[in-house]
Amino acid sequence: MHYAPDKRDHGFKHDPLKAIVAPRPIGWISTLSKSGIANIAPYSFFNAIASSPDMVCFSSGGMKDSAQNIKDTGEFVCNYVSQSLTQKMVHTSIDAPHDVSEFELAELEFEASKVVAPARVKETPAALECKLADIIQVKNAAGELTNNFLIIGEVVSVYINDDFITDGRFDVEKAEPVTRLGYLDYQKGGELFEMRRPLWKADK
Ligand SMILES: Cc1cc2nc3c(=O)[nH]c(=O)nc-3n(C[C@H](O)[C@H](O)[C@H](O)COP(=O)(O)O)c2cc1C
Repeated sequence: MHYAPDKRDHGFKHDPLKAIVAPRPIGWISTLSKSGIANIAPYSFFNAIASSPDMVCFSSGGMKDSAQNIKDTGEFVCNYVSQSLTQKMVHTSIDAPHDVSEFELAELEFEASKVVAPARVKETPAALECKLADIIQVKNAAGELTNNFLIIGEVVSVYINDDFITDGRFDVEKAEPVTRLGYLDYQKGGELFEMRRPLWKADK
């Protein structure tokens, strides 16, 4: 089958896009409002987009509180979502008013970041402290502005809980990431395997 996303003519009850582009990492974004209220929410249109400098991005469907706070303060933290944090993570996706802290709603403990003002989730295995590099209001193929905002951050400090360092590596198996699929689905676990990338000079 084929369908045209703009016509929504797939005939399914739910849009399959997020099930096709999956699994997606979850950026659990903590910010501070202009008046100092701690905000946190999950974003799965999230990824690392560069190293040297280390850069991450996420996309907000509309100018949600996280995006607005980042626009106002220029800082955010991406908290790693491990299995033990899943329920609290989803709790923080609640559409709380701007002046309500999801940290309190989800009874999340937090810990001060090293470089930026927003705190990180205390229990998280890892967190990326970011400074805003750019906010882009995304355009469609016709060049028209959409109601989607791409927030790009430079990672200025990386936190790793020492318990999750094994043999000089961030221990992903121990950190037990939870990823987002489509619909209401999430994924945990999965087998790791290593593969070396071919190099033209060595392998041809
Ligand atoms: C796992 C998960 C992933 C989500 N990903 C996104 C996303 O990529 N973009 C978005 O706009 N909303 C996303 N949401 C919804 C937001 O978390 C939700 O709208 C939240 O209330 C936004 O909070 P804020 O206004 O404090 O930023 C996601 C929700 C969940 C549970």
